[in-house]
Amino acid sequence: MAEGDILDMTASDLGIAAAPRHVALIMDGNGRWAAARGLPRFEGHRRGVEALRRTVRAAIDLRISFLTVYSFSAENWSRPLEEVQSLLGLLHRFIRNDLSELHANNVRVRVIGARADLTPEIANLLREAEQVTQANTGLTLVVAFNYGARQEIAAAARALAQMVAEGRLSPDQIDAEAIAARLDTADIPDPDLIIRTSGEQRLSNFLLWQAAYAEFVFSPILWPDFDRAALVAALDEYAHRERRFGRVEAPRSAKTAS
Ligand code: IPE
Ligand code: IPE
Ligand code: MG
Repeated sequence: MAEGDILDMTASDLGIAAAPRHVALIMDGNGRWAAARGLPRFEGHRRGVEALRRTVRAAIDLRISFLTVYSFSAENWSRPLEEVQSLLGLLHRFIRNDLSELHANNVRVRVIGARADLTPEIANLLREAEQVTQANTGLTLVVAFNYGARQEIAAAARALAQMVAEGRLSPDQIDAEAIAARLDTADIPDPDLIIRTSGEQRLSNFLLWQAAYAEFVFSPILWPDFDRAALVAALDEYAHRERRFGRVEAPRSAKTAS
């Protein structure tokens, strides 16, 4: 290969991850942020919404196509009632106050997670956010609310079993693609980069299926302190990763493959 050729190669030809198309965020550490300041946990959550606002603006600016944020897990219902109510209130206010700005910024809102057990008020609000922004072509902001990956996979299995029971599908047609097509994320590409703040290094039932080949960045920053610089630092770390997808060398484009 001539020396000049390397300059013509894309980041993916070189096996460098470059810019992620889909970034997923586990926004963790609100409670510890508040406790460190002698404040109630609610204050940490309130400041966490401000960090979310900053991060969405940065993601738009950095031309990220998909940003998924873990806002409330299926297991978070087991927190004290008062905290659950304050988290629901914050979600409510975030959508009420920020929907018009998101829409004006061409953001498409999508919500993943179980809707069935939500109050009609919250369910309507989430539906409204999706409907109002559905034709937008900028950042897709995926809000994971009442989301649990195991529950999502179980629902997909149930839907496929139902089709088999009705004779519309044969068991040997159930492959990874058939399952992926029945997840809440069916039309969303898998995350390239998953960032978790607060120093915890676990997924906590987030995107278990979709994370199969994601890169992980664990940041010690507590979520309310997260900002554009922290996001850029994570993107920079990602850009130095080599993604192999099970191959011996990095995937090459059709142009350079021979
Ligand atoms: C993240 O912060 C917000 C939610 C899980 C909803 P936490 O409330 O989990 O904060 P820590 O982990 O207790 O510090
Ligand atoms: C994960 O954080 C859920 C969200 C960030 C919404 P948790 O704080 O609930 O996770 P665990 O309990 O520490 O694993
Ligand atoms: Mg936590």
